[in-house]
Formats: sequence, C-alpha cells, structure tokens
Amino acid sequence: MTTAAEKTVLVTGGNAGIGYFVAEQLAGAGASVVLGSRSDAKAEAAMGAIRSRVPGARLRRVRMDLADLASIKSSVDALELDSLDAVVCNAGALLDGPRRQTADGHELTFATNHLGHFVLVRWLLPLLAAAPAGRVVTTGSFVGKSAQLDLADPQSARDYEPKRAYARSKLAQMLFGFELDRRLRAGGSTVASVVNHPGGALDSLTPSRPPVHVRTAGQRARSLPAGLVLQGKEAGARPAVRAVLDPAVTGGQLIGPRMFGLRGRPRIEPVRGQLADTTLAAQVWAASVDLTGVEPV
Ligand SMILES: NC(=O)c1ccc[n+]([C@@H]2O[C@H](COP(=O)([O-])OP(=O)(O)OC[C@H]3O[C@@H](n4cnc5c(N)ncnc54)[C@H](OP(=O)(O)O)[C@@H]3O)[C@@H](O)[C@H]2O)c1
Repeated sequence: MTTAAEKTVLVTGGNAGIGYFVAEQLAGAGASVVLGSRSDAKAEAAMGAIRSRVPGARLRRVRMDLADLASIKSSVDALELDSLDAVVCNAGALLDGPRRQTADGHELTFATNHLGHFVLVRWLLPLLAAAPAGRVVTTGSFVGKSAQLDLADPQSARDYEPKRAYARSKLAQMLFGFELDRRLRAGGSTVASVVNHPGGALDSLTPSRPPVHVRTAGQRARSLPAGLVLQGKEAGARPAVRAVLDPAVTGGQLIGPRMFGLRGRPRIEPVRGQLADTTLAAQVWAASVDLTGVEPV
C-alpha cells in the first residue's frame, strides 16, 4: 500500500463544496491532487485557497464536464498520467425547475451524477489498474437509499420531479459502485470500488474558504440548531477522504458519518436493503451501458 504522499488522486467537482474539502484534506495529507472542474477559474480559485492553508500543496486541474459524455475521454487524456491511485466521483447536480437535457439527450441530473462518472471510470480504469492499489470512490447519498428506480424510464422522461431524479441518480451511483467492485473482484483486478456518502452537509455549517466559500456571521448563528443533526462540508468530506487513504478499507464497503448517517466521524456502514440487491445493480449497469455505449469492465 502506498502512503498518502505517494498517491495521486482526481476529485471531480473539486472546485467547490464537499469536493473542495476532499481536495484540501487529501493535499494536507500529502497527496498530489487533480481538481476536475468545468470552470478553469473556479479550479484556480480553489487551488489558491488550498495553497493558502497547505503550503507546498501539490495541485493540478483538469477541465471536466460530466454532462458532456463525449468530452470525458479528452479530459482523461489531458491528465497525462501513467497511473492514478484514486478517483473521487464527487461532482453532483441537484437541480430545480423543469426537466433539462444534455446535448446527448440525457436528463441532466442522471447524466451528470451517474452517466458521466460511469463513462469517466471507463476511461480511468487502465490508469487505476497501473497503480499498486487503485480505488474508485463513489459519492452517494442517504436519500438514495430509499429511492425507487424506474428502469423502464431511467431518464425520468414520463414523470420528472427534480428531487426524485436526484435521489434516483444517487441510488444508481451507489449500485454502480458496488457492482463495479463485484466485477473487478471477478476479473482479479487490483482496483477496489468503495462507496461513501457525506451525510447532511450544509453550506451554512461550513467554515469559510474565501473566495470559494464565505459564511457570514448571521448564517453561522442561524445554522446552530441544524448543527445538532447535520454538519458542514468540511466534515462531509471525511468519508471520501477515508475511502481514499485508509489502508483497512476494502472494495465493496460503504462509508458514512456515524451519527444516524447524517453527521460525525466516518464509519463503515452495513450494505443492506436495495444497496445489496445484485439483480437491481446488474440492471442499472446494463442500462448504463446501453445509454453511454461504453462498459467500464
Ligand atoms: N451536501 C449534502 O448534504 C450532500 C448529501 C448527500 C450527498 N451529497 C453529494 O456530495 C457531492 C457534493 O455535493 P455538494 O453539496 O458539495 O455540492 P455542491 O456544493 O453543489 O458542489 C457540486 C460540485 O459538482 C460540480 N459539478 C456540477 N455539475 C458538474 C458537471 N456537469 N461537470 C463537472 N462538475 C460538475 C460543481 O461544479 P460548479 O461549481 O461548476 O457548479 C461543484 O464543484 C454530490 O455528489 C452530492 O450529490 C451531498
């Protein structure tokens, strides 16, 4: 097992929110971190904020738009890496308003959160396999655990509702993470797939990191009651960071906050209910292959 200082990690959506703190914490542990971001300016701002707290942080950025499936291979090529120790599939969209589609005709939430990472992992796997013990770390959500997938309509074309589409996309991501690990194990791969979720992580409970995130004194005061059950994004990043760095973590595990799955230090959670449904996971995998035209393993 390589030490943190020997690792190179890609964090999607590393320019903001939980992904920013995943990048900051990994850089603080000595890892070399690549921020995947659809905005060069936001990625630069995030790298500046990290460097102000972690002198000598080893950081790079790569432009990456997960909603543009055809562009993802170019983003992977632009990494110019021979190997990659881990990818944190963190970027996510929680939209409101009417249903929106990508240029490829996919529903935007499902495309960004699930299909984009499905395609990204396809192109990253050779790099991860070239590392001593590569890891795919997928960020799910507690709302995904109770979502109901409609595999006859994975793109919510018939009955779109933003929060339901989000919850379904997070369930699809988690099922993908577990199915990926089963397939990697079956093929004798050295790469492990781990699923994590951040609990409930609010901006108002998140410490400031100007210019990436600024919390006012008023927001901080108003968020105090919520802090009893939820947490900030700095804490929400810890399950993903543990999934990357903890040598005791193995493929197929689920990591989330220890207090009711909403806040607190990361712990290994049991994988149960529909998260353990291998038939459903295989159906999600097959639908994802159909929709993207690629198959990671
Ligand atoms: N916060 C919570 O309580 C919570 C709970 C459960 C799960 N999660 C999951 O945790 C992850 C991070 O959430 P968050 O709260 O940190 O969200 P956030 O603050 O809204 O940050 C989302 C990140 O994803 C990026 N992104 C969105 N669409 C993208 C695209 N098409 N291509 C590339 N990057 C894209 C955003 O980039 P831009 O800055 O360019 O928009 C941003 O960096 C998500 O997967 C979310 O589902 C969060």
